[in-house]
Amino acid sequence: MPDLGVLRPPATILFGTEAVLNIGAVAVEHGRRIVICTDQHLAGSAHLPRLVQLLEAAGADVRVIAGAEPELPLPAVEATISAAKRHDPQCIVGFGGGSCIDLAKLVALGIRFGLPLSRWYGENAVSAATRPVIAVPTTAGTGSEVTPVAVLTDPGRAMKVGISSPYLIPRAAVCDPDLTHGAPPEVTAYAGIDALAHAVEAHCARRRHGWNDIGGRLFVGRNVLSDVFALQAIRLIGPALAGAMGDRVEARESMARGSLFAGLAFATAGTTFAHALQYPIGALTGTPHGLGVGLLLPFTMAFNARASVKQTAEVADALNAGDDARAAVGAVRKLSRSVGIPGSLSEIGVTRAMLPTIADRALEIRRLVENNPRPIDRAGAMTVLEYALDGDPVELLAESRK
Ligand SMILES: NC(=O)c1ccc[n+]([C@@H]2O[C@H](COP(=O)([O-])OP(=O)(O)OC[C@H]3O[C@@H](n4cnc5c(N)ncnc54)[C@H](O)[C@@H]3O)[C@@H](O)[C@H]2O)c1
Ligand SMILES: [Zn+2]
Repeated sequence: MPDLGVLRPPATILFGTEAVLNIGAVAVEHGRRIVICTDQHLAGSAHLPRLVQLLEAAGADVRVIAGAEPELPLPAVEATISAAKRHDPQCIVGFGGGSCIDLAKLVALGIRFGLPLSRWYGENAVSAATRPVIAVPTTAGTGSEVTPVAVLTDPGRAMKVGISSPYLIPRAAVCDPDLTHGAPPEVTAYAGIDALAHAVEAHCARRRHGWNDIGGRLFVGRNVLSDVFALQAIRLIGPALAGAMGDRVEARESMARGSLFAGLAFATAGTTFAHALQYPIGALTGTPHGLGVGLLLPFTMAFNARASVKQTAEVADALNAGDDARAAVGAVRKLSRSVGIPGSLSEIGVTRAMLPTIADRALEIRRLVENNPRPIDRAGAMTVLEYALDGDPVELLAESRK
């Protein structure tokens, strides 16, 4: 079977120090009435007046809405859509971490088609272009600046929900590593390990054979185009994460580039079972997305290794750790522990009694389950969870080889 490749990047990606100087020209291409979606903290930072000034210098009429709240609760998203609508923006700039960029995507969708947003939960439910979005990330990072996904918290649902559609891909991503300076160490660690997880999961995702096998899927599994970005992302992120927490300039640059590459990889390859498990675990424990994913990743890698032998070895090599699954699992575990990610689910308040519910809810997320390299059923999910509760991923690797 020939190797297939799928890539759906934004029309424009600008990367590098001072890339933000181009924001005016990039934005007014879409119109002069612009809304910036951000959060309260960044609205008070020195970056924001500069962004506004750059846009106004290009002739834009700018409104700032600081409506992003942690984990994007639906009421805050709807309030932002109403406020943005009054300005009737021709373009929405998402300025901040994943929360602000996801909010910009939801505002672009809500303004174009109205509420409720629940009409578009899931995959491929949006049927036409939204208002254009320009993403300016300040964390490294969720990759949201290049992905077709927005994630929010609907109080009526047990878990966070996603809206995934090619129409949600930003028209432009303006990635200036300088904007990530000053992100607190915890935010840097969680966003950075999430980026590593995007790259590792994209690289090891199930491979599909032939276009019929891909069907109408948005996330098609690992492929020859996503592989290039995934491996390069791992090479960049591995040695840079700790330095970025200390605000070192070169490390911040590597992380910004690595998270962008990881985003490009998982935007089509998709993620797998660590992300599926974090949906219910995040809801039950209130832990940040990156913390949970970083904790779970070595365990899911160990479980999956026998179905992605070559890819897991390549992860080890990209991390300069060796050339087999044991080295890969050990290196990811060490990296995640070194930046303060807890080592076990019991440390974040998960109890043994919660495990069956977590397994059942994670298995409901078919898009991620079907993308996992090793088929996973309830028994498999429980095995991963039992080890993640208070065990060692290297022992799970040995057990999974039997
Ligand atoms: N759409 C996607 O593809 C995708 C992928 C992964 C995660 N996500 C979502 O992204 C969100 C997490 O995003 P995140 O980790 O980037 O964090 P975030 O947007 O939640 O921000 C976390 C905190 O860091 C602060 N911050 C951000 N940049 C800063 C800077 N440069 N200096 C100082 N403070 C700064 C913010 O103000 C905020 O208080 C979650 O809601 C998650 O579900 C989306
Ligand atoms: Zn993630």
